[in-house]
Amino acid sequence: MRLGIFLCSLGLLAGLGAPAAAQAPDFANEIWPIFEARCVSCHGEKKQRGDLRLDTRAHIEAGGENGAIFTAGKPEESSLHNLIILPEDDPDIMPGSGDPLTAEQIDLVKRWIEGGADFGAWTEAAAPAPAGPAGPGKPTMEELLATLADGTAPAPEEALAKLRDAGALVLPLDQKTPLLRVDFNLQGDAITDEELALLAPVANQLTWLNLAKTKVSDSGLAALESLPKLTRLHLENTAIGDPALAHLAGLQHLRYLNLYGTKVTDAGLDSLAGLGNLEKVYLWQTGVTPEGAQKLAAAIPGVTTNLGEQLAPDPAPEEAKPEEEMKDDAPADEAPAEEKPAEEAPAAAPAPEKILEASLDEGSCCTASKADEKDCSHPCCVEAREKLEACVKCNPGAADFVALVKRFDAGGCCAAALAEAKKCDHPCCVEARDTGVVCAKCNPGAVATDDAPAAVNLFDEGSCCATAVLANKDCDHPCCVEARSAGTVCGKCNPNAKPAQEA
Ligand code: HEC
Repeated sequence: MRLGIFLCSLGLLAGLGAPAAAQAPDFANEIWPIFEARCVSCHGEKKQRGDLRLDTRAHIEAGGENGAIFTAGKPEESSLHNLIILPEDDPDIMPGSGDPLTAEQIDLVKRWIEGGADFGAWTEAAAPAPAGPAGPGKPTMEELLATLADGTAPAPEEALAKLRDAGALVLPLDQKTPLLRVDFNLQGDAITDEELALLAPVANQLTWLNLAKTKVSDSGLAALESLPKLTRLHLENTAIGDPALAHLAGLQHLRYLNLYGTKVTDAGLDSLAGLGNLEKVYLWQTGVTPEGAQKLAAAIPGVTTNLGEQLAPDPAPEEAKPEEEMKDDAPADEAPAEEKPAEEAPAAAPAPEKILEASLDEGSCCTASKADEKDCSHPCCVEAREKLEACVKCNPGAADFVALVKRFDAGGCCAAALAEAKKCDHPCCVEARDTGVVCAKCNPGAVATDDAPAAVNLFDEGSCCATAVLANKDCDHPCCVEARSAGTVCGKCNPNAKPAQEA
């Protein structure tokens, strides 16, 4: 076997048929992961650089603009091999951005071609991925929540009171559902594993949980194992690491997971591979590597991982990139002059460029470029910007923010910040944004929309209206009924809900 590999590596066996086939790497398990992680961003469904797609067997066999990319048994006659072994500074090296493939990866590709370029049963990208529990017709978030709510009784009042006493913000997900959202992040430091025990009595209702900035521990998160309805979980800026993730492995409905600023690593992510419904995983400032994130992406179709590659300087100098990539950069440098924040533009409808700029995630490559008074030159970002959108690959939070923008009250603090291409930094607004809603205190108009989490934010905690909502009803005090029909909140019963316009 040693000898075989040795001879192969000298290329002596090339052309002698496929004697090395027995040891040839398996395409689905050894070659496809390399293509998926390093090639399909440019050679896939969305982009076909060099007219080449590497995401289906038929496309790989069809080759690119220069025809076939491999000759079975002959790596040295295969551009698929020859382009990945070029010196790092060669402009033609593949992949066209980032680090070259490792020696091990190159060897795998080489031996795969040598061994006869056998695809086995693999035919296309989706085929080998383990089928997630969602199956083909994954329900929308709304449908999922409706299913989770179905037949669920409201949470016991006593349990809610205990959670509030412990400092949690407890809100129904919307007015018509018994499902709950519990935020402990406001108390941050004061919250430990002990408080997690208070969640058990609301396990049947709890779907959003925010433990950001709290002092929960790896072992403490065992409490989450009995919260099967969680769809959204914030663990950012906690001290948790890999062992904690093992406790999440059974949360089949989980769609959003924020692990920003934790100690998790690639090894921990393996625990999440079975969570087929995950859509967004935030991994900035963790020990997770791009390969680890890719592995998760390969295991869960449709998941977006954000790793904050943006925090590191772009590894590939522009000169080293293929020409095509360079062209994308050209217009980018001229933009900043006209993008100067307007000094005063309170009530004007927000310009799309402002929304775009404000929507960029903190710490993303795009924000970093802005700080240097440039537009980000990543091809994905250039492309998105042309459509006046933020690149969601690099700014996964952008879509959430853009959805909120529509509901900012004109003349409110959030709209004013937006006019300056910023996100409002009032603590209440930051908090609301973190949980995916608009701060209804500062945007009382948002109450008139049908998006209930925002409306509910307006009620004073413990007021008649808040209590009614918790019981899945609208408050029937005449003053509240009247206020509601006018699209506002009864100020008599919710004195703190007074629009914080002065803020
Ligand atoms: C950042 C984008 C990018 C990535 C990532 C990338 N490529 Fe390419 N690739 C290109 C561009 C652009 C061309 C066309 C170059 C040209 O025409 O000079 C190309 C051309 C090729 C060709 C030649 C196709 C032909 O018919 O001429 C092969 C083979 C190839 N790439 C393989 C790969 C492999 C294998 C990977 C992953 C290991 C990869 N590429 C990753 C951008 C990329």
